Amino acid sequence: MQKIVVEGGVPLHGEVRISGAKNAVLPILCAALLADGPVVIRNVPQLHDVRTTLKVLSELGAGIRADGDLIEIDPRSVHSQVAPYELVKTMRASVLVLGPLLAKHGAAEVSLPGGCAIGSRPVDQHIKGMQALGADVTVDHGFIKASAKRLRGARVVFDMVSVGATENVLMAAVLAEGTSVLENAAMEPEIVDLADCLKAMGARIEGAGTPRITVEGVDRLHGGEHAVVADRIETGTFLVAAAMTGGHVTATHARPDTLDAVLDKLRHAGADIAVDGDRITLDMRRRRPRSVDITTAPHPAFPTDMQAQFMALDCIADGAGVINETIFENRFMHVNELLRLGADIRVDGHTAVVRGVEKLSGAPVMATDLRASASLILAGLVAEGETTIDRIYHLDRGYENIEAKLSGLGARIRRIG
Ligand code: EPZ
Repeated sequence: MQKIVVEGGVPLHGEVRISGAKNAVLPILCAALLADGPVVIRNVPQLHDVRTTLKVLSELGAGIRADGDLIEIDPRSVHSQVAPYELVKTMRASVLVLGPLLAKHGAAEVSLPGGCAIGSRPVDQHIKGMQALGADVTVDHGFIKASAKRLRGARVVFDMVSVGATENVLMAAVLAEGTSVLENAAMEPEIVDLADCLKAMGARIEGAGTPRITVEGVDRLHGGEHAVVADRIETGTFLVAAAMTGGHVTATHARPDTLDAVLDKLRHAGADIAVDGDRITLDMRRRRPRSVDITTAPHPAFPTDMQAQFMALDCIADGAGVINETIFENRFMHVNELLRLGADIRVDGHTAVVRGVEKLSGAPVMATDLRASASLILAGLVAEGETTIDRIYHLDRGYENIEAKLSGLGARIRRIG
């Protein structure tokens, strides 16, 4: 089992290139199933979850050609509509093939994604949306089975804001007959990016990025090309690392307009932030960050995927920070590991109170989920001595070459085993 060893105490300095967004590329790869021709996707990050998604697509019969950060998907050879449990259980986002297969082939069998460390993660809103579009959907023996001769446009009102359900239903609606309106839709930048890709393939979509998305169904989608939006969570993670270590870092190839809430919190923590096109520069001038209060909520509010990283910042900040996690029911798995490093955190339900300490002390810790593992690396960057993080396969799901990128900023970090 590989581990990452970090030695704390180095203020980060320099430039880091941001990769394409994991949470945009996964639905976009699935959207290729809707086309009548090859779809070329650029700026694809080298991630475990991307490789898993490509495995699912090739299981379905799609042709895959990879060339660096370019992936070409040819959906014309798709011969199966069954997404197997063995693959879906390793990555929940595989459920995003449901909408495209149903819309394109009139049938889909997708293993019910299990829960994961951060929560039960049901898919009832995905199913509700497909039924609203006229599909017959049953769930038995651990499989979602959906069928429809041709989906019909409809008004879909989501009971709660769901990124995945919005994406799945959007992908189903683009080939439905007639108009669909998605109400209470998620507004994340990854939804906008998916819609941009679908429009490049000939889809007719208005309102992506707002709570109401209108789709005029078309009979077919042609192939197309799309470059994936920059990863706002990777960007935020590196900027928090710079703030925690008192450093001076520029993130390049970023999209500053997609992380206003995060930049706002970093300014509250005392960071000087300058934005120039696709470059974001954070200068902490060797200062200790001030504590910040965080409440996670759907975009454009503060993203749940940055909660663990800011908890690490509050652990060594001047003051006390209150963190409310409102999206997932169990997203404080990093707390026990941060306590091992000497943090002062009190959890009461969905709220954590973090009192900043002068310093953390390095120790062996264990990653439990993707963003928790990132927060442990951040804590290791400032802890005295060495911090060894185990189970880093969680990290490789969502961060491309994180230790290479951090080493490039001067961090003393290495992978062992
Ligand atoms: C996406 O997950 C992201 N994953 C998550 O990122 C992110 O944390 C989450 O959106 C929220 O922003 C991908 O895009 C691949 P949701 P998703 O549906 O779509 C409940 C990371 O670290 N819900 O918006 O699964 C659900 O339980 C990952 O990169 C239902 O109840 O999230 C949760 O409490 C982690 N029924 C809330 O809604 C449903 O049918 C939001 O979930 C769907 C969701």
